[in-house]
Amino acid sequence: MVSTFPLASTVNLKNVRLEIRALQPQLVEWRREIHQKPELGFQEKITAEFIAQKLQHWGITHQMGIAQTGIVAIIKGEKSGHGKVLAIRADMDALPIQELNEVPYCSQHDGVMHACGHDGHTAIALGTAYYLNQHRQDFSGTVKIIFQPAEEGPGGAKPMIAAGVLKNPDVDAIIGLHLWNNLPLGTVGVRPGALMAAVEVFHCTIFGKGGHGAIPHQTVDSIVVAAQIVNALQTIVSRNINPIDAAVVTVGELHAGTAVNVIADTARMSGTVRYFNPDLGGFFKERIQQIIAGICQSHGANYDLDYIHYYPPVINDAGIAELVRSVAEDVIETPIGIVPECQTMGGEDMSFFLQEVPGCYFFLGAANAEKKLDYPHHHPRFDFDETALPMGVEMFVRCLEKFLA
Ligand code: NI
Repeated sequence: MVSTFPLASTVNLKNVRLEIRALQPQLVEWRREIHQKPELGFQEKITAEFIAQKLQHWGITHQMGIAQTGIVAIIKGEKSGHGKVLAIRADMDALPIQELNEVPYCSQHDGVMHACGHDGHTAIALGTAYYLNQHRQDFSGTVKIIFQPAEEGPGGAKPMIAAGVLKNPDVDAIIGLHLWNNLPLGTVGVRPGALMAAVEVFHCTIFGKGGHGAIPHQTVDSIVVAAQIVNALQTIVSRNINPIDAAVVTVGELHAGTAVNVIADTARMSGTVRYFNPDLGGFFKERIQQIIAGICQSHGANYDLDYIHYYPPVINDAGIAELVRSVAEDVIETPIGIVPECQTMGGEDMSFFLQEVPGCYFFLGAANAEKKLDYPHHHPRFDFDETALPMGVEMFVRCLEKFLA
């Protein structure tokens, strides 16, 4: 699959309009400024201040402090016509990672890093706001630009929706993008339907009965019980789910025991569940609970289960996804650069917005192996090719033009 992609070095910006191409130095400057001052979820104070200052300077109406650190900017078109409202969403939080890149714009905050590209998302959204504000006379309708906190957790989309960001004026559709190092620069990953998976997490403690390692018949061995549970959980995907529906159940943590001659009284395990089909919401929790309860009961053990539904799957509206795909074809020109097989079991709280209004989330290829800008997301050496920044602005602006046309 990868071999069919164009080489990053062949990518140019000829389909990006001159005015947006000319914004590139500013886009890079903003991105690097934000990159140097990364902040964790709901702590994006410097970032929000930076965004608000720009909006203020450009005379763009905006509101700060939504869901703590979120911002919404509103740009009204001045062309007469219908009053459709399109929202653009950008996340702005960083990760608890110590940056290992040796670049002049390296993180100045110890142990915090923009290792997912949200600094770029913020810069692209700012560039889009700047451009649209300069061209209010060219479009009718309204654009809302949503700067969202805490995508990496615990999630800023849901509280922003609760705070009413999709209302007054009511949003008709929403789009958003993720700079994506799993795709090379000059590609766009877009598809209708499921793009990213639901994210659910469980924590379970097995209460057995501890005792002497040489006298097992007086005990309930929590390690044996836990081992059977780990194995049995694998049958959910292999035996209970329609094989057409992709899903993952991973037990990522298992802790028990203190000594070779001691039977462990308790065992603790944690795991994550991922799936695309929204109809499966609730299924995994029920099935995991059944398996744990059944195995514990058969051994005389007890358990405690904490199951958390973090994010639902990211489901793109077919119509808006087609709009984004057609725009991508114009921007990157070569149809080979459109990658519909871009699904990932990673999660995103953009999904909450997409539950409320039709929309599309898409990936903008940002890796450039020749420049060694192809480390995976969340890696301490993550960085991306900044040529993607004006491409992102062009994508958003063209989507808006097409949607409001
Ligand atoms: Ni991300």
